[in-house]
Amino acid sequence: MSDPRPIGIFDSGVGGLTVVGEMQDILPNEDLVYFGDTARVPYGTKSKETVTKFSVENVEFLMEHNVKLVVVACNTASSLSLDFLKRCFRVPVMGVIEPGARQAVSATRNNRIGVVGTHATISSGAYEKAVKKISPRYKVFTQACPLFVPLVEEGWSDKEVTKTITQIYLKPLKQKKVDTLVMGCTHYPILKEVLKKVMGPGVMLVDSARETAKEARRILDAGGLLNGSKRSGRHIFFVSDEPNRFVRIGEKFLKRRIKCVKRAV
Ligand code: DGL
Repeated sequence: MSDPRPIGIFDSGVGGLTVVGEMQDILPNEDLVYFGDTARVPYGTKSKETVTKFSVENVEFLMEHNVKLVVVACNTASSLSLDFLKRCFRVPVMGVIEPGARQAVSATRNNRIGVVGTHATISSGAYEKAVKKISPRYKVFTQACPLFVPLVEEGWSDKEVTKTITQIYLKPLKQKKVDTLVMGCTHYPILKEVLKKVMGPGVMLVDSARETAKEARRILDAGGLLNGSKRSGRHIFFVSDEPNRFVRIGEKFLKRRIKCVKRAV
């Protein structure tokens, strides 16, 4: 069986491109349609109602492109609206929280897991729930880091001020002696180096992007939805605001050139 329809992926902006990069590696023959809601980013400071409304609209947009699977490549949208999206649409919808939680559980040795994310993700308790679902024996400690997204978007990941802010944010998690840290926001893999330095060599960083792409492959495979074509997949990017900034910042996330970007509406 072969299904040539594209996979739809959305994020509040550029961050979900870390997931796109992994999807391109793991599912090289699949067509991808990405939507970055650059006009309404950030989601991480908004309410559940607002993020859910935006997320529904984003999926509706992807459905217009006849997608066979929707990947919510945004921790905030996954935390606040995944269950609702799953109930609303006929295609499978998956998020980034469960893949990240699974990876954290297999990485931890002392069963103490730290999670950093936006205010909305952290206050939703989504990671605690996802880890508890796997087993109650793990302890999860969380920390909202709202300044990280603007620092990444400014291209300030190497600046001293970013290190100082990271030290302040991560101090409580270090005190809890976590040995695994989930980067629970799509922007944070860009801060991997500083996070590693501040947490120290004994702490494993979890980036859910790769695990998410693997999960997408599993869902497609199980549903007989993989694209059997031998040609390389086509990748189209849509944004809700002007594309130039998206391309400039997005190429850092994707680590590849972004060629085909269109403004939605
Ligand atoms: N994409 C969001 C997330 O992963 C971060 C940016 C935002 O706040 O919208 O949580």
